[in-house]
Amino acid sequence: MQNDIQEVLYSEEQIQLKVRELGAAVSRDYEGRNPLVICVLKGAFIFMADLSKNITIPIELDFMAVSSYGNSTRSSGEVRIVKDLDNSVEGRDILIVEDIIDSGLTLSYLIDVLERRNAKSVRVVALFDKPGRRTVDLNADYTGFSIPDAFVVGYGLDYAEHYRNLPYVGILKEEIYSNR
Ligand code: XMP
Ligand code: MG
Repeated sequence: MQNDIQEVLYSEEQIQLKVRELGAAVSRDYEGRNPLVICVLKGAFIFMADLSKNITIPIELDFMAVSSYGNSTRSSGEVRIVKDLDNSVEGRDILIVEDIIDSGLTLSYLIDVLERRNAKSVRVVALFDKPGRRTVDLNADYTGFSIPDAFVVGYGLDYAEHYRNLPYVGILKEEIYSNR
């Protein structure tokens, strides 16, 4: 598995440090409120677990799975809800936890859905951001790392469902794509 990685972008320690900072910022900003924190499956599952442990105010957690049509390394912008929330978002402060923002299409769709369901507020925390790839005007309220346009895996992020369990994030060797 390690041999498939061309370059480690962020080590486990660097990620953990950043997640602690993000948790502190969220805890400060949402003081006195009880936000519903939504994990976008599957990619954000490790980030959600680590971030939630670093949030020191009362929160509720929920999970949503979306799939965007397209191939495995580029999303097409057509988004479909595969697993919906268990909770109502009406009147709630919502914090969406996302692994990575690429074109921005997935998140702009999700934000739209939650606003139409009358959420009180909708904010986004994304661990990784590829600002150079944006096709819609969208920015996260909290961003961990801005990264260049390379396909990355690890810490929840996959290629064909592999590498999610790596504790760090790295760039996948190009030969891995071409061999499959
Ligand atoms: P959009 O384009 O809608 O895409 O902002 C967001 C979703 O695309 C996936 N994505 C990646 N997954 N490595 C991955 O494993 C990447 O480098 C990458 N870039 C985008 C991801 O599922 C994200 O939720
Ligand atoms: Mg994915």
